[in-house]
Amino acid sequence: MPTVQTGTPEWEAKAQAVLPPALLPDLTYTPEVAAETAHLYERVKRVIPPIEWPGFAPYIKAINDLKRARNAVVLAHNYMTPEIFHCVADVIGDSLQLAREASKADAEVIVQCGVHFMAETSKLLNPDKTVLIPDMRAGCSLAASITGADVRALREAYPGVPVVTYVNTSADVKAESDICCTSSNAVRVVESLGAKRVIVIPDEFLAKWVQTQTDVEIITWKGHCEVHERFTADELRAYREADPGVKIIAHPECPPDVIDEADFTGSTSGMIKWVEDNQPSKVLLVTECSMSDNVAVDAPNTEFVRPCNLCPHMKRITLPKILDSLVFMKEEVTIDPAVADRARMAVERMINLNH
Ligand code: 13P
Ligand code: SF4
Repeated sequence: MPTVQTGTPEWEAKAQAVLPPALLPDLTYTPEVAAETAHLYERVKRVIPPIEWPGFAPYIKAINDLKRARNAVVLAHNYMTPEIFHCVADVIGDSLQLAREASKADAEVIVQCGVHFMAETSKLLNPDKTVLIPDMRAGCSLAASITGADVRALREAYPGVPVVTYVNTSADVKAESDICCTSSNAVRVVESLGAKRVIVIPDEFLAKWVQTQTDVEIITWKGHCEVHERFTADELRAYREADPGVKIIAHPECPPDVIDEADFTGSTSGMIKWVEDNQPSKVLLVTECSMSDNVAVDAPNTEFVRPCNLCPHMKRITLPKILDSLVFMKEEVTIDPAVADRARMAVERMINLNH
């Protein structure tokens, strides 16, 4: 979190102490800033009202300038707000795509616009690079639902049963696991193990969805995503009754009865691809709010119904905090070396499986 509010005289004085004059951000909306960012506004104008642009544009320009100077790359998850997703990100995607791109990054600095477990994954795959997260408090209810000690207890309760761990977990938990998965490869990862029974943790609903796609017996945990668990089947049925033509696309972190109401279930990128491939006239994305905005930018012929829920952790990442991060090179993500090697192995096994 910025120690002082970005753009104030106090913040500028601190920035002057760490940056050469040529790199000091000017956060006023000048005609030059308007001209330099016009192509970006053109891209997002359907989802960002003109009145908001003068507040975003100076930050966008400052971040893009500083990114080059710092040799930094910005990785942004599909749940980032459109001014981040479309205007400052170098790489966008779901958890798997971001993990893959993180392993290929040749910049010296990675700024992770997403939640803490995503930044940890980037650090695991780039131990020699500086990985920054604009707000250290960007957590995840799934990651908070389980500890390394819980995984060790599960292994004792189910001796010999392999453990597949969703990337939405801490490095401690990954270190106790055989292999990681994301929502886009969970079924494939489970089946790759050739086992009759597999422990899939910590998301109970993702595990239940995987169970509908495979004959492997799945044992799970009671973790839930605080965003997706709030959707209800009743609310989706009401939308369908009101508008029988609407297509309903759900993330596998939703409860099973919600998934039963969906026309398609997939990871955030799977959902985006479904909209691109099917070009529905009306769609309801049963997931975090910013997804609809981000997809709407490239889907002018689709109307988005938006009973979305906000992820308070993802929403901690803002343009001012990204700028603050690049100016002061913080918050740096570090991982205890005692767990990093084992956690990295679990992530790399997953990535290698997809090659
Ligand atoms: P994806 O891997 O599908 O992007 O999911 C990550 C996440 O946090 C969803 O809530
Ligand atoms: Fe975690 Fe859910 Fe937020 Fe994704 S949307 S980061 S799973 S709390």
